[in-house]
Amino acid sequence: MTTFQRRVIPLNQVMRESLPNGGWVEYEDFPTPIEVTGPLLYSLFQEHWQEVGVGHVVDGSVLELEFNQPPKILRLYDGYLTVVTEGWHLHLCLEENLGGPSCQTPIELRQKRLVSRGALYRRFNPRGQARSWGIQFWNGAGERMMNLFLPNPFVGEHEDLLPENKPNLEKLKLYETIRKIYVLGEQEIPYTENPLKRAFISVCRSSRCNPSQNWQPIYEALQKSVEKAELNIDAINSGCLEVCKMGPIVFYSGDRTWYTRVTPELAEQIVQEHLVEGKTLTSHVYPRAVVQES
Ligand code: FES
Repeated sequence: MTTFQRRVIPLNQVMRESLPNGGWVEYEDFPTPIEVTGPLLYSLFQEHWQEVGVGHVVDGSVLELEFNQPPKILRLYDGYLTVVTEGWHLHLCLEENLGGPSCQTPIELRQKRLVSRGALYRRFNPRGQARSWGIQFWNGAGERMMNLFLPNPFVGEHEDLLPENKPNLEKLKLYETIRKIYVLGEQEIPYTENPLKRAFISVCRSSRCNPSQNWQPIYEALQKSVEKAELNIDAINSGCLEVCKMGPIVFYSGDRTWYTRVTPELAEQIVQEHLVEGKTLTSHVYPRAVVQES
């Protein structure tokens, strides 16, 4: 197991992209392994959700979404970070997307989906004045993925534009802190472990794998057993866990194990035997053949 490195090694890569209006965008790249993007995105979405926006910008179109509340779900599953709010959700591929228990995602597609470049940016007008601040991600094919919009000192409450000579420069604090931690490596990452890599055990609540939708007692059994065993993991329920048959399905993220036909009793057994004692319950593991061969 690799130790979590709290100090980012800077890439020292600054690029300037000219804009047709005479302005430009300055990009300062940061490394994009999950050890860097995990804490960065967790801190922005969990701790600074009031200050950041999410969207996509290309010539001719801007999509911009804001948080009204903290995210309901912030979870990494099979490489994808999922963030769910009351009104919208996003997925961003931060680790290889293997494709569920059968590992079906082709290698080239895994590489294409993955965030492969990330940069903090400042957008300048033709007079050389910075006008917007944010983060841009690119995928493995070099395509622009998502933008995160950081606080803008020229914008007041309710998108009100402040007078040109009265920017609220306090609002640049988040940009400056991110830059020191994730671009320049001058400050440590403010976590002792990667918050997006915290292990969890989850039951699928979708009806495709479990038409009777009797996941609730299993969820409760997982929660009680995890609490009783004093384990430092989350017991949750979630959407599809990529088995889609023989439900209820339970997934343990610590070693990527799927269980089928789970009952509340079996859920307790999984926690005790697998998570506490390290013994996989082979008769319910999916896919069974892989386990039997190993
Ligand atoms: S719907 Fe439950 S695993 Fe896919």
